[in-house]
Amino acid sequence: MCGIVGVVGLEACSETILDSLKRLEYRGYDSSGIVIQSDGALQMNRAVGKLRNLSEMMREAPLDGQSGLGHTRWATHGGVSERNAHPHMAGDKVVIVHNGIIENHVALRVELEGKGHSFSSETDSEVLAHLFLEAFDNGLSAQQAGKEVMARIEGTFALAAMHADHPDMMIVARNASPLAVGLGEGASFIGSDAVALSHLTRDVIYLKDNDYAVIRPEGVEVFDAEGTPVNREVVIVAASQGVVDKGGYRHFMEKEIHEQPDAIAHTLAAMTGPEGKLSTPLAREDLAAIDGIVMLAAGTSHYAAMVARYWIESLARVPVSCEIASEYRYRNPVTGAFSCAVAISQSGESLDTLMAMRHAGEAGLRTIGLVNVPGSTIAREADMVMPTRAGPEIGVASTKAFTAQLTALVSFAVALAEAKGQISVARRDEIHAAIQGLPSMVGRTLGLFDDIRPLAHSLTAARSALYLGRDVLFPVALEGALKLKELSYIHAEGFASGEMKHGPIALIEEGLPVVALLAADEVMGKAASNLQEAAARGGRIILITEERAASTIDFAESVITVPNVDPLLAPVLLTVPVQILAYLTAFEKGTDVDQPRNLAKSVTVE
Ligand code: AGP
Repeated sequence: MCGIVGVVGLEACSETILDSLKRLEYRGYDSSGIVIQSDGALQMNRAVGKLRNLSEMMREAPLDGQSGLGHTRWATHGGVSERNAHPHMAGDKVVIVHNGIIENHVALRVELEGKGHSFSSETDSEVLAHLFLEAFDNGLSAQQAGKEVMARIEGTFALAAMHADHPDMMIVARNASPLAVGLGEGASFIGSDAVALSHLTRDVIYLKDNDYAVIRPEGVEVFDAEGTPVNREVVIVAASQGVVDKGGYRHFMEKEIHEQPDAIAHTLAAMTGPEGKLSTPLAREDLAAIDGIVMLAAGTSHYAAMVARYWIESLARVPVSCEIASEYRYRNPVTGAFSCAVAISQSGESLDTLMAMRHAGEAGLRTIGLVNVPGSTIAREADMVMPTRAGPEIGVASTKAFTAQLTALVSFAVALAEAKGQISVARRDEIHAAIQGLPSMVGRTLGLFDDIRPLAHSLTAARSALYLGRDVLFPVALEGALKLKELSYIHAEGFASGEMKHGPIALIEEGLPVVALLAADEVMGKAASNLQEAAARGGRIILITEERAASTIDFAESVITVPNVDPLLAPVLLTVPVQILAYLTAFEKGTDVDQPRNLAKSVTVE
């Protein structure tokens, strides 16, 4: 989840590099740095903390030249410090920036130190600078050096290297971590994603795994791992908004909560055919051929997968296995019962999910990428893409992408059910009509900020909180707990309501906040009993439910209601108050809402 940028052949390039780093700010980081090549010298500034600290340093000590590299770091190996910040330099001659993990860095470091190299950081990445220095010192050309270094390293990387004696030239390479190469007029660029380059060019080459390239102002030479020149397609990327702004809201997260009606509507539009009927990117016969689905995701996206399992199994009668992406490929799963794998990822770059999807593909499953970022690695590698259209989600805590994922998944479940002959076309169209009502219903829940604010205030002092949900609301309880802990740092745990009596009810003590999700569905009575058990032991019940179910519970301390909704769609609607509660609690606590501590927007390490 680091961000790398680079420029060759652009006058006064340091401002451009800073601007590109700002476009990567949403990825999360704890330090940043810039190196500029000028007249055979490499000048570097690095700063801990927010990017504004580096900008300030650049104002005080400007660096000028027409080629350079920039980096935002999310620490994996080595603490947060200036000396561990990238770029890393070796012998005052070579600089590198890197995103990923060099898994054999310890052995390489021992070997290089044995040859007299002295290291200045605790990072795995620094070995790259010394490997390139050694390659150049041995007289290798840029292309030979790229091949040599690629052959020595194991792990994941998007890297760029420059040498003081080779002006206006950089060597880049990638394996698993994303890297885009931008082609300009008399200048060339690199970035961790096309958004970082959107203000510079729309002509982009996405390197493939184990590609490396030599980049100069006049163009790019790409090679495969064997050193054979290869052609990679130049893609014209959509003119992105570049640096997305907050639109008058206090935080990106607040803005994105409010954007959910549009996010849902746009995603629905992508799942609706020209005749206005429900339509997925899969042809009906392809849907009918699906006889088992593996869902691969992490975090919030995993909870979307868990909701989808209720929908798909109850409507289409197709078995679904929800897998935590980082666990999937290492447990040597049995895949024979499944015909397709759905990788769900807002960023389309979560390495855990990408590697799990690759594993499923290698096992013969057809892969579908449910992603929010067009052109992301998962989108490009999946056999087929089922897009969410939530627009750029900048807040690290996922909100509009989650409800957009649910919208796409419920649409997919209904289309699959009809293709499998489990529901009639008329029933499919009836449910599709109900789904079309979601944007306005979600819009009406956005008025709950004032109702929820006092609740959020009362939560700020809590040491812990429980979230309970039953059946299709259980994953929403998990999502609510994740939102609270990742934003306000309050410990929270989600449980299936019915599971409480099997142990977790021991946690209940006087005044413990219990956020309870309830819908007027088949399990409402049982869910109410589970809540009664918690209330009877002193739990503070905070009930989030639909209007018609509010009277079911007379022992709740607080009740937040949303409009009455088809039980099938309750998970989408009840998520919104859960998001608002987490946002307002974090706001009251004064945490960094858009970039909570230790977190990054896309986790591109395993
Ligand atoms: C959600 O609020 C978190 N930021 C995190 O759990 C996130 O959902 C997870 O890292 C998966 O990201 P992805 O959807 O981009 O793959």
